[in-house]
Amino acid sequence: MKRITLMELAVLLTFSITGAQQAGEHALGSRKYDDYEKPEVCKSCHTRIYQQWRQAMMSQAYTHHWDEIEYFDLAVPHGEKVAMFKPVSDGCNGCHAPLAYLAGDVPPPRPEENSRANESVSCDLCHTITGIDGDPVNFNWISKPGQTKYGAKPGLKSPHHITKFNDVFTIAEYCGSCHNEQNPFGIYVKSTQMEWAEGPYSAEGVPCFVCHMPKAKGRSAPMAEEGMVAQHIFLGAHNEAKLKSAIEISIHPDEQEVPYDGVVSFQVELFNAKAGHKIPTGSVEDRILWLDVRAVDSEGKKYHLPVDKKGFDGEEYTIAADELAYKDMAVPLDLKNFKGVQRDGIPVGNRIFRMPYFDENGIMTIMQWNTRSLGVDYRIAPRETKLETFTWEMPDDIAFGNITVTARLNYQKLVKPVADFLNVPAEESEIILMNEASTTFKVYD
Ligand code: HEC
Ligand code: HEC
Ligand code: HEC
Ligand code: HEC
Ligand code: HEC
Repeated sequence: MKRITLMELAVLLTFSITGAQQAGEHALGSRKYDDYEKPEVCKSCHTRIYQQWRQAMMSQAYTHHWDEIEYFDLAVPHGEKVAMFKPVSDGCNGCHAPLAYLAGDVPPPRPEENSRANESVSCDLCHTITGIDGDPVNFNWISKPGQTKYGAKPGLKSPHHITKFNDVFTIAEYCGSCHNEQNPFGIYVKSTQMEWAEGPYSAEGVPCFVCHMPKAKGRSAPMAEEGMVAQHIFLGAHNEAKLKSAIEISIHPDEQEVPYDGVVSFQVELFNAKAGHKIPTGSVEDRILWLDVRAVDSEGKKYHLPVDKKGFDGEEYTIAADELAYKDMAVPLDLKNFKGVQRDGIPVGNRIFRMPYFDENGIMTIMQWNTRSLGVDYRIAPRETKLETFTWEMPDDIAFGNITVTARLNYQKLVKPVADFLNVPAEESEIILMNEASTTFKVYD
């Protein structure tokens, strides 16, 4: 065996120390804004990619209205009041405004001041990542800005930069470095890459890129050769088309014909056909997915059907109720006697597919950094099918004839009572119909 000389040991040690300093929290203030090129520089050649990125959430991660509200109204003041949350609120920028974080410019200027923090997750940030420091979490990518741009294709030539293949651009961990997040209490408050890793798509070798950066024939720059080019569209929950039909839905009654004084029950099947992770994923503290079932009788009278209980632990959080929650917002907002706002804001009795996040008092929170525990995980895993039953004791005055029953699967990026309370623009809490299905049965005398 070769013996390591003292010199080599010293080099190795320095290497691992500087290595550790360059990733995650250790990278705060380790760079200058000027170390990174602006997206507009890349635009001159990679025009299409630039335009795609401009429209993607990636280029708005810092400037987007709801991010600005949560960061400046909740996270920053919370960090000022409770010392342990100061590094956490600085850390928001590690993923949302990484250039500002690397430059030590935290909190960065407000979006309206048009600083370089506004570049959000930029071209040069992503293309100067050379590795991930351990299991992917909390922006632990290693950034080496400079002449060399890294990517997934070997042997490319560019007049503007050195171009190098790096296999980190072919693995889901690359995305996971920002799409997994652990808070100061050790809770994984975001785990998109981990959900993917335990699901069928990782076993089949289908990483994030396949679905979020689909390839199309073309050239990435005027002087490039034609080939299959990765589209930088990053469609997600902010894109209705991406959401729609991600889950297949069907509904059927247990009987085609039912006496007017009878009981009828329906089964709804929900199949996560398209997502490589759970639905909802990512900002799970904000997002809800729910099933709304309604019947219309032959005289046009409408009925809302509540879901049957299954009886699992924590189920009460998966059925819409008239409850208050999110009381911990009182601390950063400086509110006295704040009782919270409505937990769900949707029709009582509807099934909700979600995972509740709890604060130290066991009350639901949307402040992921303040989460002490997670509740029941009732989301729909990749390729999982969830069955829900609706048993309906029809009212005595039900009209005879055909009854149509419709199941709607709705999605909301941010629970509406919270959005209204914090004055978040309406589009963040609009109800998006993901899918729907209908069935009929006949009521007889
Ligand atoms: C003067 C034109 C020009 C400019 C400006 C330019 N590039 Fe390129 N870039 C190219 C060409 C040409 C290629 C090779 C494309 C091919 O052959 O498919 C390329 C390839 C790439 C690749 C692919 C690497 C790989 O191996 O997969 C990346 C990543 C990249 N550029 C990033 C950037 C970034 C980031 C910027 C801005 C900081 C930028 N480029 C600016 C011309 C340019
Ligand atoms: C979130 C990180 C991220 C951002 C932001 C990003 N890219 Fe990429 N880019 C990637 C990854 C990952 C690939 C490789 C995808 C693959 O091959 O599946 C890639 C591929 C490329 C390629 C090679 C395309 C091909 O297939 O020939 C070019 C060129 C490129 N990016 C330029 C840019 C430019 C210019 C911007 C900004 C306008 C940008 N990228 C923003 C992650 C990013
Ligand atoms: C430097 C951190 C970072 C990296 C690396 C990164 N992302 Fe993101 N990504 C973000 C942030 C922050 C957002 C949230 C933007 C917002 O809504 O504020 C986001 C948003 C998204 C969205 C849009 C979600 C929506 O709600 O519409 C998708 C899809 C996505 N990322 C996929 C990927 C994929 C695939 C990769 C790997 C190629 C990747 N990301 C790498 C930070 C990152
Ligand atoms: C098999 C295809 C597929 C794969 C693989 C996949 N996704 Fe997705 N992703 C989707 C679909 C479809 C949606 C839209 C439904 C939804 O929002 O969950 C989505 C949504 C998202 C969103 C938005 C979620 C939200 O609520 O804002 C993010 C972020 C995201 N994906 C990141 C990733 C990352 C990171 C990976 C890899 C670890 C990945 N995806 C792998 C298909 C995929
Ligand atoms: C480890 C990376 C990471 C850290 C740290 C992080 N975020 Fe995020 N954040 C993301 C990603 C990725 C998404 C997109 C997930 C999705 O689409 O569901 C996101 C989404 C969000 C959203 C929802 C955006 C929308 O449009 O629905 C808000 C608001 C937000 N983050 C604020 C914050 C604040 C405030 C902090 C600090 C307390 C923070 N984030 C820390 C990665 C991070």
